[in-house]
Amino acid sequence: GLLILDYGSQYTLLIARRVRELGVYCEIWPCNDPRVAALQERGEVPARGLVLSGGPSSVHIEGAPRLEGGILSWGVPVLGICYGMQLLASSFGGRVDRAAGGGEYGRTEVVVEAARGPMAGFEVGHRTEVWMSHGDAVGELPAEFEAVARTENGHLAAMAHKTKPIFGVQFHPEVSHSLEGAAMLESFVFDVCQCPDTWNMADFVTSAVARIQAQVGERGHVICGLSGGVDSSVVAALLHRAVGDRLTCVFVDTGLLRYQERERVQALFEGHFGIDLRVVDARERFLEALAGVSDPEVKRKRIGEAFVRVFEAEAATIANASFLAQGTLYPDVIESVSVLGPSATIKSHHNVGGLPEDMGLELIEPLRELFKDEVRVLGRALGLSAELVGRHPFPGPGLAVRVLGEVSEDALRKVRQADHIFIEALRAEGLYDQVWQAFAVLLPVKTVGVMGDQRTYDEVIALRAVTSKDGMTADRGHLPMSFLGRVSDRIINRVEGVNRVVYDVTSKPPGTIEWE
Ligand code: XMP
Repeated sequence: GLLILDYGSQYTLLIARRVRELGVYCEIWPCNDPRVAALQERGEVPARGLVLSGGPSSVHIEGAPRLEGGILSWGVPVLGICYGMQLLASSFGGRVDRAAGGGEYGRTEVVVEAARGPMAGFEVGHRTEVWMSHGDAVGELPAEFEAVARTENGHLAAMAHKTKPIFGVQFHPEVSHSLEGAAMLESFVFDVCQCPDTWNMADFVTSAVARIQAQVGERGHVICGLSGGVDSSVVAALLHRAVGDRLTCVFVDTGLLRYQERERVQALFEGHFGIDLRVVDARERFLEALAGVSDPEVKRKRIGEAFVRVFEAEAATIANASFLAQGTLYPDVIESVSVLGPSATIKSHHNVGGLPEDMGLELIEPLRELFKDEVRVLGRALGLSAELVGRHPFPGPGLAVRVLGEVSEDALRKVRQADHIFIEALRAEGLYDQVWQAFAVLLPVKTVGVMGDQRTYDEVIALRAVTSKDGMTADRGHLPMSFLGRVSDRIINRVEGVNRVVYDVTSKPPGTIEWE
């Protein structure tokens, strides 16, 4: 198969996932994995091809991860992506500069100059839209390399070694906004590396169930945090297969939930699957934990801790309940952890970064390596309803991260009402399934308005809708202005304390989907 060396990109698993979709086995190793040196000593080659991921570093920074020279002596094809390309360029004697204007982020059109490597399937002169996210750029090609693609203003976008199968791309072919990125990876994997397409994910359920059984043992009892969303529901269904009635699902009413969420989840799960469901009213505990807190990371950590304390209290009432299962996905992991080289912490997703160190429960996270859309496929395979599987994602910290700054009951009321109006309208006008996620955010700023000849001085609701495949990158949702106008009127008329509505048109990157 293929080996991916991770230099800390947000997108590394996305590369793996594209390769998986092609039916090709692959592994991700950290760039400084000791196995690399060990293999070199033994003269062994671990894969048919190598991908060097992107990363947050700059080759000019001291201590930045380097290219292990020996890798190139393996003689297998290499594809460097973003930072990976910069590493290749600098180790072959090229020059890496700070990119003009501080970098390039977002969509860019590139023109193919040579049909080689990942670009072998295109004609010279072909234009294609790709996704850039970089601060440095290759300013001067190494002597042994030639340009394979450039951006419209002449910056190098892809390069190839003149005689060896070594390639670099400055953009991210693995993200779905690189329109022909999948085809580029396909060319590299099959035409250049000649990997066999014999791997499939059909037995994911079987292997996940077996792994859970091995972890829990014959007598262990599992507490599963159930939010009513896709991820935790899929986890509950998997666990039910694995441990049967040694499973208790706990739904926590945090007070940070959407309109009528608790009632909806109760109706959906009580008496369903034969799962033991407990509903815990912890509204006071969460509000207290958030009192006086306005920093987003502190909020997330406080919420993570409060969740765990509730689960621990429930576990204490059940014999052998020493496991906590949750629906952590790969994007939650990658954006929450920071390994030296690897990914900078973007935000602490409550079910990962926010866990207290003294937690008395062992974690079970069967979806840790999957992306949302893979989880949806899995959910369908496990027999969950289309409505459940199609729900928009909702973050664990709930409305707390959609009330910017300090959280109060009144602020929660405003954002909850506005969100409900927005989502109902999306459903009523058939737009719900056209976006990946949509929601309202309450901004802690006041602006002047006029209603019924009276001056108003109230807060602002921002509406956000994005399209995405997996939440790792996202584009602004193209909702009709007339629709947004109707939603705006309804919100301002019905939500007391709000007199202005704005629409967020930021993509990810550079924004994130949530505002905190
Ligand atoms: P961001 O804001 O990081 O969000 O671009 C990406 C996706 O993840 C969701 N999200 C979370 N999900 N716990 C979760 O379970 C969290 O703490 C969390 N924070 C963000 C977000 O709604 C989007 O779908």
